[in-house]
Formats: sequence, structure tokens, C-alpha cells
Amino acid sequence: MEFKAIVDPRTRKDGACSIIGVHEDGSLGEPTGRIDARLGGLAARLHAAHDFSGKLAETMLLAHPSEAPGARVLLVGLGAKGKFGRKQYRKAVQAAAQGVLKTGAGEAVLHLAPDPDSGLDDYARGRIVAEVFCGQLYRIPDLKTGPKPKPVRLHAVHLATADARASKHAQQGLDDGVALAEGVAFSRDLANLPPNVCTPTYLGAQALALGKRFASIKVSVLGERQIKKLKMGAFLAVARGSTEPPRLIVCEYRGAGRTSAPVCLVGKGITFDSGGISLKDPPAMDEMKFDMSGAASVLGALRAVARLRLPINLVAIVATCENMPAGNAVKPADIVTSMSGQTVEVLNTDAEGRLILCDAITYSRRFKPAAVIDVATLTGACVIALGNHMSGLMSNDEALAAQVAAAGLRADDRAWRMPIGEEYVEQLKSNFADLANVGGREGGACTAAAFLSKFASGLKWAHLDVAGTAWLGGAQRGSTGRPVPLLVDFLIERARGK
Ligand code: BES
Ligand code: MN
Ligand code: ZN
Repeated sequence: MEFKAIVDPRTRKDGACSIIGVHEDGSLGEPTGRIDARLGGLAARLHAAHDFSGKLAETMLLAHPSEAPGARVLLVGLGAKGKFGRKQYRKAVQAAAQGVLKTGAGEAVLHLAPDPDSGLDDYARGRIVAEVFCGQLYRIPDLKTGPKPKPVRLHAVHLATADARASKHAQQGLDDGVALAEGVAFSRDLANLPPNVCTPTYLGAQALALGKRFASIKVSVLGERQIKKLKMGAFLAVARGSTEPPRLIVCEYRGAGRTSAPVCLVGKGITFDSGGISLKDPPAMDEMKFDMSGAASVLGALRAVARLRLPINLVAIVATCENMPAGNAVKPADIVTSMSGQTVEVLNTDAEGRLILCDAITYSRRFKPAAVIDVATLTGACVIALGNHMSGLMSNDEALAAQVAAAGLRADDRAWRMPIGEEYVEQLKSNFADLANVGGREGGACTAAAFLSKFASGLKWAHLDVAGTAWLGGAQRGSTGRPVPLLVDFLIERARGK
């Protein structure tokens, strides 16, 4: 798909589809009014006659009038005029993309100009347009044997802007949006694969392939022997019950000088979480193939950063294994020694994410990171607390927490701050080891994060619990690619912000 910001929105030759917006009050704004004038005021008349209400994301296609057989105009509702901001723009573009993809148009020209006071600049518009159209074109790498869906006819999306300067900013947004969307698609592909394909070994191979593709990324994949050498006793305890060998994946992206401290992204890569000896209930256990979504998002963000050649250093660390029951599996009451030296009593083998992450966080110290962000489908309790709308955000650093939350807001991939602290660590007391790996049902997302915080002291660290946001269940079952948009926005801001 070609994405291009343009200034002169003359209709293209091959029946391009012009997309124009109408507010609930019937106002069209510019340049929509001018375009409608060329249609003889049809959009205004449709609104006046109550045939098109202008409700947010409503669409109506006007196509092939006998005077101009190739012409197509898609009306998109923009909702209330005073309330048209970034989120509404995204919804309207989403509806526009769905609408135009149903037509035979090869090109689309977007004229959905927001109010000047909507807080939505040309860069943001460009990014949203590319993200939304690419997201709309995403297809799950399914293993269905029936006839394949027809290829889409749309091959170019043009974003109309006011002048050359606006066009330059919008083009940057479009380019960033495409890179971001590719990172999201990469992450979704990995997470959507079945767990008998997407094993720790497979994730390692995918990371190595990224290193081949981008000269700026150096990848090493450590096997069981090397993980043992590092004394990652907590990670290895989780891996022990599976016949699939674990992997520690380390990807170093270099976009800045040697002296620039990197950001470390740490991903939970449980390619299947059966719960282990503390076996899960059968309902929805299949969804535990998505328990490597944190790992997938970290690799997706890395890919986007490499494509964008951001002038920062970034390290992606993925701890990946299966959590399975077996005769030699870790069992409740086992005590393991983490890489940090702290001992952990494993009271519940289903609280495995924190066991692999604590060692990966400890490992990140060797890069002397400026910040560490771990991403994990860590707790069902987080889903109960925040639903599927926001990721949980915990941090030991106010400034970092604020930056992560702000990135989520800008990227429409929000995270909501939740507490950690001594009260929660208290719940993890063990009579036999430094820490227990569970702290009871109450505040489960917070005790899990508090557990990790014991391995992050002295680091500027943030934790994203994406258990509710990384995938959708039910009929729309599949990976969302979250929180790649948040992560990439955070890194873009770090690289280019003041
Ligand atoms: N991967 C799960 C968390 C999860 C559960 C994510 C459901 C999304 C949906 C994690 O490993 C887990 O099993 N956590 C336990 C922790 C408990 C044993 C303290 C949980 O949340 O039930
Ligand atoms: Mn589990
Ligand atoms: Zn898990």
C-alpha cells in the first residue's frame, strides 16, 4: 500500500474514492465544503433530508452517478463538532477504511480535516491513517484450506493536507505509521500462531531473522546450557517440565553512540501456559498460547525502531519457554535461586511469568540501561481490574511512569497506573525463602508487580501487565499487537523529543 500526503486533491484518474466528513450538525468544514460544491451540494442535501445523520463513524457511499461513471465519494460521519479529537478521528478513519475497502476503488483520497482546535496535528493524522489502514488489511496467518479471500483492490491512500508544510508533517506521520503497523503485524503474527509452531526455538529463529534483515540489530539466542551458566534458577524452574528447550533471546539495536545508555525492553515469552503442576481449568486454556504476547510486542517494537532508524540504543530481552506439568516439573513448595541470588518459594506453578521475568530483569543490568520496561500477560487479576481497555502500569520511577502513560495516550494504546510498594511485598512473605511467588487473590496484579520490583531496585523500571489488552477472546479471537503502539511512541518521543 502506498501512503502519500498531498496538497492538491484533484480526483485521480482510475475512479479514486474521495472520503469526506460530515458533522452531526451538518457542517462540512473545508475543504469538504468545496468538494461537496462540486457534487452540487449532495452531502449537505443528504444531511438536510435526514438520510445521513453525521453520527460518528456512519458511512454512505455515493458512487457512479450517470454524469461521472467512475466517481466515488464516501461520506463519513464525524459526530459532534466540538468533540472531534484524536480518538474520534481514529474511529472515523476506521469506518472510512472499512467502507472504501468494500468498493472497487484503487485509490482513496482522505479529506477528513479535523477542527483546527482538536489538538490533532498533521503528523498525528498521518500516523493514524497509516496505522488504521494497515490494521484493516491485517490477516491472521491462518491454516484454513478453503479458497483464499480475494486480494484487495486498494493500492494507494492519499491524505489531503492544507499546504506543503502540513504535507511534510503528514508524510512523516504516514511513514512512522507504516513502520509502526509493520511492528504490530509482526507481533500479531507471532502471537496468533499455534503453540506447536511458535515454540521458544521458533521465537529464537524469528529474532535471528530480524538480525539478518536489519544490520543495526545484533541477536544472540542462548540455550539451556548458557542459561544455566547465568544461574537463572527461576527461569529454568519454569522451563523444566517441558520437552521444548528454553531460550533467552537478546537483541541489541544500535542507533546511537556507544556511550548512550540503552532502553531495555523485557518480554514474557511463555509459548504455552498450562499452569504446570498447578494446572489451569480447561475453559479457554487454548488462549494461553497468547502468553508470549509480551515477547512478541518487544520484538515488534524493536522491528519498528530499526525500520525507523531511531537514534537511540535499544535492547530487547525475551525469556521464553513453555509452562508444562511433568514428573520433573517444578512443584508447589519448591524453592529456587534466582539470578539475583534471592530465593523464591514456588507456591503456585501457574505464577510462572514473574519467575522468568525476574531473571530477565536481572540480566538487563549488564547493559547499564537508562530505563527497563517489561511487558507481560502477567495476571488474570489485571483483567479483572482494568478489563480489556487499558494495560496495567506499575513503576518505581515517577518520571518514567509519566512518560509511559503519556505515550499510551498519544498512541491510543492506554496504560493505567497501579500501585506497588511495601504493603504488597508484605503479601509475598515466605517462612522458607526470601519471597513467595504468590501473595493471595487480593490485589493480584499489584503483588505480581511488587514481586518484580524486588528485582528492579536501583533501575528505572516500569512494568506493563497486558493480560487484558494483548488479545481479544470470543468471536474476534486473536492478537491485538498491543502494546507495540505505546512502546514505539515512547521510543519515538525519547529519540526525537526535546
Ligand atoms: N498467563 C497467566 C495470566 C493470565 C491469565 C493472562 C488469564 C490472561 C488471562 C499467568 O501466568 C497466570 O497464570 N497468573 C495467575 C497468577 C496466580 C496463580 C497468582 C493468575 O492470574 O491466575
Ligand atoms: Mn500462569
Ligand atoms: Zn502465564
